[in-house]
Amino acid sequence: MPGNLPAADTLARRASTVYIWRTMDPDRLLRELMEFLRIPSVSTLPAHNSDCRRAAEWVAAELRHLGCRDVQFLGNDSHPVVWGVGPEVPGAPTLLLYGHYDVQPPDPLEEWTAPPFEPAVRNGRVFARGAADDKGQVFCLLKAIEACGRPPVNFRFLIEGEEENGSKVLFDVLRREPRRTQADAVLVADMAYVAPGWPAVYTSLRGICYAELTVRTAESDLHSGEYGGAAPNAHEELCRLLGRLKGPDGRINVPGIYQAVRPPTKAERALWKKLPFKESEFLTKRVKAKALVGLKRYSVLERLWALPTLEIHGITGGFTGDGAKTVIPAVATAKVSLRLVPRQSLRTVERQVAVAVRRLVLHGADPAVIAVNHPSFALLDQAFREVVGRGTVAARAGGSIPVIPALRKSGAPVILTGIGLPDDRLHAPDEKLDLQQLWDGIAVFQRFYELLGTNGVEGNRRGKPSRGGEEDHRH
Ligand code: BES
Ligand code: MN
Ligand code: MN
Repeated sequence: MPGNLPAADTLARRASTVYIWRTMDPDRLLRELMEFLRIPSVSTLPAHNSDCRRAAEWVAAELRHLGCRDVQFLGNDSHPVVWGVGPEVPGAPTLLLYGHYDVQPPDPLEEWTAPPFEPAVRNGRVFARGAADDKGQVFCLLKAIEACGRPPVNFRFLIEGEEENGSKVLFDVLRREPRRTQADAVLVADMAYVAPGWPAVYTSLRGICYAELTVRTAESDLHSGEYGGAAPNAHEELCRLLGRLKGPDGRINVPGIYQAVRPPTKAERALWKKLPFKESEFLTKRVKAKALVGLKRYSVLERLWALPTLEIHGITGGFTGDGAKTVIPAVATAKVSLRLVPRQSLRTVERQVAVAVRRLVLHGADPAVIAVNHPSFALLDQAFREVVGRGTVAARAGGSIPVIPALRKSGAPVILTGIGLPDDRLHAPDEKLDLQQLWDGIAVFQRFYELLGTNGVEGNRRGKPSRGGEEDHRH
């Protein structure tokens, strides 16, 4: 697909760029994006609390600049949810935009070509932590409003600062004030195209159960000469425990974990076969390892989108500093997570993991299933078609956005889409966003807002649950 786009596509791309250039100065846009990316708003590290706060203020200033009447910080001082109400457009539908201004830690730092919070443009791409996940995409949604001139719909904003840390603040806010989610549609741009030139909407997200497993084998560390051979070693016990949790075939050994899991439908399988996805290219171009792992009976997309996972993220304990130290560690900790697929529930999985190990669950999220038949999806499809020359394909996502199930409590359909590309390296060194994707994205969302403003969608603002919001996964 890359480098092999049809001519019509190229034309549409150029048209989209010209379309934005007429109203906006790209140098200014880039300067503003860099400003946002320069703030190291890492939500999982308390040392960055004031940076998170600064990122929230950056978003709030943007909302005020867009003419929002009501801009508020909700929930908490260090990672506030930025709430905004756009200019009133009588009779027009209400669109809620969700996104997050927090980012993941940039480690390992030495693997970045340039420092992660000193955004740099190379080859038409901006490199920085948060470029694609999710600051660049929040930026895209907001600048598309600016591009409209006068906003064509009633905007509401929920831009949070704890998505990468389980979204506790926003969950609390929505529990207390569920009316904040009332809208005709919710738009989330925190994902990617399925391939260059192939925009997507997502019909499911995986959930997550994130835990720290701590093993203590003695009251304190012990001399490995004096005690070695007779005293238990915490790392050894932890490794054995972790080793038991997954077989070499990729099967997770947590009793009951696969009970609720259902295979994708025939229709879905057929759709996935038509996506521009090659398992061999996935290995050589994206994973860049010797071989893929996981349950061999299932296709790679099924492993990524429709099966649970168990991953070890990091292990600490004992002595890991420079040089040597002969010690038997008394404590060892592993950070692990399981991804959950539709029909699994966080509560059940938490219990199943607890039975398998002693654990401390830090945060988690239920999976989400989204029907994409609400009329607003057709409008987004049209916007992509006009700007990038191809409409949206329905795909699933392997990642998680904890708050999505709560966002649709009021019944509004949640549109999960994005302007990133599969090789953006989210959470990894040299995260980037292609500028052409950003310019196209601004034009796409601008067009989407306009279509929504003129065509409207059947109102669903009164809080009754709709078919568009939730769907049972069994067909
Ligand atoms: N934007 C991602 C989620 C995502 C990634 C969706 C790739 C689809 C494809 C989001 O910012 C994210 O990383 N979420 C975390 C949530 C967790 C920390 C609770 C995740 O999935 O690890
Ligand atoms: Mn994200
Ligand atoms: Mn993320």
